[in-house]
Amino acid sequence: MSVKYIPVQWNPNKWIYDAVMLAGVALFLWVFLYLTPEVLSHDQPVTAQIRNARAFGACAFVMLTVILCIGPAARLDRRFLPLLYNRRHFGVMTAFVALTHAGYILNWYFAFSSSDKLVGLLYANASLGQIAGFPFELFGIFALICLLILAATSHDFWLKFLTPPVWKRLHYLIYAAYFAVAAHVSLGILQDQKNHVFTVLFMLGAGAVIVLHLAAWLRERSEAAAKDGAWAEVARVGDFRDGYAKIAKLANGDRVAVYLMEGQLSAISNACAHQNGPLGEGKIIDCLVTCPWHGFQYDVRNGRSPAPFTEKVPTYRLRIMGDMVEVHPDANPPGTYVEPVPLPEPPPEPEPDVPEDGATA
Ligand code: HEM
Ligand code: FES
Repeated sequence: MSVKYIPVQWNPNKWIYDAVMLAGVALFLWVFLYLTPEVLSHDQPVTAQIRNARAFGACAFVMLTVILCIGPAARLDRRFLPLLYNRRHFGVMTAFVALTHAGYILNWYFAFSSSDKLVGLLYANASLGQIAGFPFELFGIFALICLLILAATSHDFWLKFLTPPVWKRLHYLIYAAYFAVAAHVSLGILQDQKNHVFTVLFMLGAGAVIVLHLAAWLRERSEAAAKDGAWAEVARVGDFRDGYAKIAKLANGDRVAVYLMEGQLSAISNACAHQNGPLGEGKIIDCLVTCPWHGFQYDVRNGRSPAPFTEKVPTYRLRIMGDMVEVHPDANPPGTYVEPVPLPEPPPEPEPDVPEDGATA
């Protein structure tokens, strides 16, 4: 399993995700261009080219807002998790939409520029010393560069090549891009609005990003304070389904996948040794869980891949308190065998009343 780079396979979920996203973008542009032409009207007269630029700009802003809301929303409520796994596709599409916006701007405002369009864009407005009239396009250019870097490095190849920690740090650029877009819009465009619907929508969008991030951070901080060093609750005994996992979040931020297999519980790290895939989403067959991303397998009792493969993930100790399954937060070294914990026997069924001889039902 570790011998070569294995790309993520396409699956029906990804196709559906992308189709919904494309339909969403098309719907947004259609509503923007044909149903609400006055909503974004500025003081200046508007041509079709400018209207298109605005539609794509606003769409990219909304997409970026949604991308940034998905992470904290999934941390607050697991029902948002499916949105998280294909978020990279969302990002790539956002970069394309933003690029189209920039293309319309260049081909309209700078179409007849005597110099190169890009040079014209950079030198057209030099009022760097004042807020009103500041060249807000610079923020747009910066955001676009960030989005293009993120899109170009979104493929699993780069995750593998750069290693997950570096890749993750690089992808924090999304926040820089969002701040730049917020500056781009509020410095240049909002000041020129006749109708304030867009201003309100813009503030609601940016507000949602801030509030969701704060809420997820506060929730995780209070959970961490409550659980630090202590056994962490996973789920009730009756909530487990044979062959599947429940996931626990530890105070240090690590996630543990706790599986029920033939009446016994075992726990391993939720992060696959290959590329941090979510092992807790995998199903168990013959003591082996299969990672949903690229199919690496691990024995859930010792966290080891079956021979001849050598991948290992950390295991964890479990205990049952009352009807609650708990996990110890200290991870065992990767590959350490842990005796599975049997589920308690259900109490015996009460004996049915035996009718006395001669009694009728
Ligand atoms: C090279 C990069 C960019 C340039 C030169 C640029 C330039 C502009 C210009 C000149 C406008 C005003 C259009 C008008 O109303 O006449 C505008 C609007 C806008 N831009 Fe950009 N932009 C760039 C990148 C971006 C990016 C990356 C985003 C978002 C991800 C973005 C989002 C917006 C939004 C939301 C508007 C307001 C649309 C409206 O008025 O309704 N821009 N941009
Ligand atoms: S197999 Fe690739 S992340 Fe698990």
